[in-house]
Amino acid sequence: MNLKSNPAIAAICIVSFSAFLSLSLQQKPWPVPDAAKNKKNPVALNDASIASGKALWGTHCKSCHGTKGLGDGPKASQLSTDPGDFTKTSFQTETDGALFYKTSEGRDDMPGFKTKIANANDIWALVNYMRSLKKGGITPTTPTTPTTPVKDTVKKVEKPVVVTPPPVKKDTLKKENPPVIKPETLTVQEQITRLATRVDSLERLLNSVKARVDTLK
Ligand code: HEC
Repeated sequence: MNLKSNPAIAAICIVSFSAFLSLSLQQKPWPVPDAAKNKKNPVALNDASIASGKALWGTHCKSCHGTKGLGDGPKASQLSTDPGDFTKTSFQTETDGALFYKTSEGRDDMPGFKTKIANANDIWALVNYMRSLKKGGITPTTPTTPTTPVKDTVKKVEKPVVVTPPPVKKDTLKKENPPVIKPETLTVQEQITRLATRVDSLERLLNSVKARVDTLK
């Protein structure tokens, strides 16, 4: 079979190969013993410790992890494991103890630094530096003076004038005079008598008009 003549099969091959590639490059879970995970960082998170961590980072870590911890250092392409992106929440939510443990012990392509960086506090300072790689940065524990609030430059949106119709006064409403006698309450007989009187008065009116017409003749 010729792949060129069958684009569908060629596409499937490309997709599954790239899936295999990304899977093989993905980090496998790196378990950290609970005791190591819960170790407290003895080095305060402040500008000074971040600065000393940064210096060590430049010497020992940058080549693989990149200046900003994105995993894009010059050596990264030669690694068979993805060094990861240290700006990510998934990395930043790891405990200080876990980052200290992984940096000290290492695994596969990641060298262990407990002999190269003999002073444990230097590794803790590196942990503090890795915290500063977080998206949006970190707030060191050293308090900084609060900045003066920025003047509100946004024009306050004028309240829309809501036109409400004046409330209809109850007494201005024409009260419909209730009919003295509701027609439906009248019996058929009563209605006939009423109609008869009406016919009578109309007859009388007609007669008077006739009489008037006669006088004009
Ligand atoms: C030779 C390349 C290389 C150097 C140098 C290197 N790393 Fe790594 N690092 C890796 C690789 C690859 C991984 C991923 C290892 C794995 O998951 O098996 C890693 C993983 C890590 C992790 C764990 C990441 C996670 O997602 O939990 C930490 C923390 C770390 N490195 C810190 C450091 C520090 C700090 C330094 C410098 C003192 C350093 N690394 C130097 C290659 C390197």
